[in-house]
Amino acid sequence: MTFPLLIDTDPGVDDALAILMAHRQADVVGLSIAAGNVGLAHTVTNGLKLVEVIGAQTPVFAGCPVPLVLPAEDAAFVHGADGFGDTGYLPASRGAADEHAVEAILRLSREHAGELTLVALAPLTNLALALRLDPQLPSRVRRLVVMGGAVTGRGNTHLVPAEFNIGFDPEAAHVVFAGWPQFDLVDWEACVRHAMDFAWFDRVVSAADPRAQFYAAISRKARRFNETHGRGGMIVADALAMAVALDPSIVRTAEKRHVAIELNGTTTRGATVVDWEGRLARPANANIVLEVDQARFEALVAGALGGA
Ligand code: RIB
Ligand code: CA
Repeated sequence: MTFPLLIDTDPGVDDALAILMAHRQADVVGLSIAAGNVGLAHTVTNGLKLVEVIGAQTPVFAGCPVPLVLPAEDAAFVHGADGFGDTGYLPASRGAADEHAVEAILRLSREHAGELTLVALAPLTNLALALRLDPQLPSRVRRLVVMGGAVTGRGNTHLVPAEFNIGFDPEAAHVVFAGWPQFDLVDWEACVRHAMDFAWFDRVVSAADPRAQFYAAISRKARRFNETHGRGGMIVADALAMAVALDPSIVRTAEKRHVAIELNGTTTRGATVVDWEGRLARPANANIVLEVDQARFEALVAGALGGA
């Protein structure tokens, strides 16, 4: 049974796999594009190209080009200067919609009120602006799944406890974490635990399917980065968050806790601060995903690339 799904994304190699997975299982009503992994011009172009490779008509909406308050460094060192492995692909023939991503998020939440699953795979700039424009947004969204944070402080940026999506725009993350009553959180540490075996990943992306061939090309740089930077396998963070969104039953363990965002620490800005013992007596806003069924996660990945 399909369902309406909106993806806020900064494609981005792992975003691309998540978007491929979504189009196989859900009714993707739009891609709202953020800046993050690389600049907005590239993330929009990448989103359009991926939709063309998939053969879908999914509308692509350009969002906010910069974080809410302070500038931030991109992740081109992982994803390539263009965000898709610098393959020099021919841009899609279709352009982005005229509507701004923030307006599209609000409109689609009204059109699919009560049914919409929203998956946030990027810095939360667009979602924060949407929330500021309409604080009732959460009441219309059936489920929000956020890829972000590092719940015990083992982040992936130069601000050690910060994960990229949160660290890129901490103020936006604060607006969303403080203004969204309940959401599923797939943090970086869970993504590390659910890294994919390199040999398995290489086999899956070598499939004859055009989606696999495109993904193999754009992921080559990120694949090499994972192997040369001491990672035990291919970490595809957004794919894990998308798997949780597509099939909640793959979650084996999760804990509901209050999570806040550090905005001011000189060494901790962007950290996700979890009240594990409930000392603050604040309502739990995040359902922190701790473990998923790896085989079912990988089956969703393989299926998105044309595998069984
Ligand atoms: O930390 C991983 C997250 O940051 C992923 O969403 C990746 O695409 C980058 O945006
Ligand atoms: Ca992303």
